[in-house]
Amino acid sequence: MPLLRDYIAEHERATNFGGEAVRAIDRGDLDRARHLLGEMATELASHWQGEETGLFRVMAGEEMFAQHIAPLVREHRELGELLATVDILEPEGQQAIRDAVFDLYEHISKEDGLFPASLTALGGDEWDAAMDAWHEAHPGRRMIQG
Ligand SMILES: [Fe+2]
Repeated sequence: MPLLRDYIAEHERATNFGGEAVRAIDRGDLDRARHLLGEMATELASHWQGEETGLFRVMAGEEMFAQHIAPLVREHRELGELLATVDILEPEGQQAIRDAVFDLYEHISKEDGLFPASLTALGGDEWDAAMDAWHEAHPGRRMIQG
């Protein structure tokens, strides 16, 4: 399923940016860390928009998924807020980023556990809506082919 492949690739890019940012913080290269966190925030903004206005929205219409979706969206907001406000000059900010990147791995493994179930649970119209939302969130980009 192309849409899921794209989401998984976006997860990978976001966690790579996050992991590199933590390593940059650890070696004291804060300019580099700030740049990487900016890239991570940009990647996640379109990723979250695609999920929340598409796949998550249609999944939330199914009783068995709804309870899982709300906490995931809450975690998106928390990380978005942190990335928008964190001061990595402060040790507390640096630690908050370490924790957030660790939490992001957990968050993504929850999503990866949920996505396969969507393959069987959703109908054609729902997939179309989920794909449309992805395209709206990624103007000018094409889905992974092949
Ligand atoms: Fe995601």
